This record gives sequence, C-alpha cells and structure tokens, in this order.
Amino acid sequence: MINPMVEIKDYSIQLGTFQLNNINLSISEKEIFAVLGRTGSGKTVLLESVAGFYRKFSGAVSLQGKPVVDIPLEKRQIGFVYQDFGLFHHMSVYENITYGLKIQRKDKAYKKEMADKMAEILSIGHIMNQYPGTLSGGERQRTALARALILNPKLLLMDEPFSSLDPSTKEMMYQQIKKIHKIFGCTILFVTHDFNEAQRMADRIGIMVNGELRGIRNSADLFEDCQDQEINQFLLGGYERRIIV
Ligand SMILES: Nc1ncnc2c1ncn2[C@@H]1O[C@H](COP(=O)(O)OP(=O)(O)OP(=O)(O)O)[C@@H](O)[C@H]1O
Ligand SMILES: [Mg+2]
Repeated sequence: MINPMVEIKDYSIQLGTFQLNNINLSISEKEIFAVLGRTGSGKTVLLESVAGFYRKFSGAVSLQGKPVVDIPLEKRQIGFVYQDFGLFHHMSVYENITYGLKIQRKDKAYKKEMADKMAEILSIGHIMNQYPGTLSGGERQRTALARALILNPKLLLMDEPFSSLDPSTKEMMYQQIKKIHKIFGCTILFVTHDFNEAQRMADRIGIMVNGELRGIRNSADLFEDCQDQEINQFLLGGYERRIIV
C-alpha cells in the first residue's frame, strides 16, 4: 500500500491556553486540501504541526509514512508560504528565492538556472533586483511561492496565501497554482477564509472549530447539512457571504 503524503493520527498539542485537539487527517499524494475555520480556530498551528515545527505533542504526524520530526529539515521537502509571506526584507527578490539553494550550497550557475525557471513560471523576471518593500501584494505573493517552489517540494503548505490580493490577481494566482500543481506534482495543503476559493482549488475541505478538525468533505459537498450545528452555522455564514460577493 502506498503511504499517504500526510498522515495525522490522534494529534494534540497545547500552546498556552489553546489546544489543537485530537486531529486525524490523511492527505494523499497530489491531493489539494483546504482548511477553513474562524480566526483563532487553529489553522496556522495545524500547518505548522504538519511542517514539524513543534516538539511537544501527542499523537503523530507522518510524511509518506515517516514521522515528520524524524526527517532532517533539509530532507523534508516541504515548501511553506506564510500568512504574511515572511520575505527577507534586506534581500532582493533573487536573493529571497534562491536562499534555500544557498543553504544547500548550490553553485551560482544552478541558482541562476532555477531562478530563471521560477521567473518564467511565476512571471517575476522583471522584479528580480527589487526589494520586498517595493513590491505589490501579488508580486510579494509570487516571490514567496517561488522561494518555496525552488526547492521542488513534495508538499506545499500555504497559509491564507491569497487573502491580500484583489479579485483579478486572485484569479490569476488560482490559475498559477493549478499550473504549479501540474508541473511540480506536489501535494498542497492550504488555509483560507474564502469558501469560494476553497471550492475552486481543493479536492477536499476540512473545517476547524475551536482546535478540532470537525468536518472533512469533498469540495462539491461543502455546504451539505450535517449533525454538527456549529459546522452548519459556520457554513451558512460562508454560503451567505458567497451569494453577496
Ligand atoms: N506559541 C503559542 N503560544 C500560545 N498560544 C498560541 C501559540 N501559537 C498560537 N497560539 C494560539 O492558538 C490559537 C490558534 O492560533 P492560530 O494562529 O492557529 O489561529 P488561526 O486559525 O490561524 O487564526 P487566523 O485565521 O486569525 O490566522 C490562537 O488563540 C493563538 O493565540
Ligand atoms: Mg492563521
């Protein structure tokens, strides 16, 4: 049997007064999985847990059958696009996106070749010498994506990657992500507040409520009623917003 790309089993973690509680989730290779949930429900902590940022927890998070915390950082092959993009402000776009390769001690020619490839896929060739402070939101976003993708990750984690973009840039990014997914064949786990976006992009969607991953459903069935009234209420809010937008 092929191991799933991500397997979370009975995973709980306490951070101050917040608890991520008994998460169970299996994401298969090349799947696109979205996480929806109110602010403070634990979406970012969940992504960070999958990335193996935490040491003190119960249960397990495995990547292709191996506990993530046992895989050395440089071998995890995880790309992480942070909620605020987390770009290095004192470095140019080129330096930002090739940073991971520098850490891996790749030579100059290889860095240039990979940066050119990213520039073509993400249309960022014209901003390579600019600094993050001078970029538009969409350019910042594409730079963060390029920095994650240049390492050819097996798993791409993205925390509200499109939230600061205008509708037409968002649309362009959806298409770019789909293209990237095809080219790189990676598994994608991303967080969003946008119900439409989740349905457009993901195969399946999970809903976080107070630190619990309570509803996991196929995108097409997102708005189906269930026994869990908190989930129904949350979804109803999203459905109404979707109609208004
Ligand atoms: N290291 C930490 N120590 C203490 N509390 C933490 C820590 N990290 C996160 N929390 C708390 O855990 C809760 C969940 O945080 P998280 O960032 O995962 O929320 P979120 O669902 O991503 O919210 P948002 O949609 O606003 O980004 C919050 O109340 C946060 O303050
Ligand atoms: Mg968050």
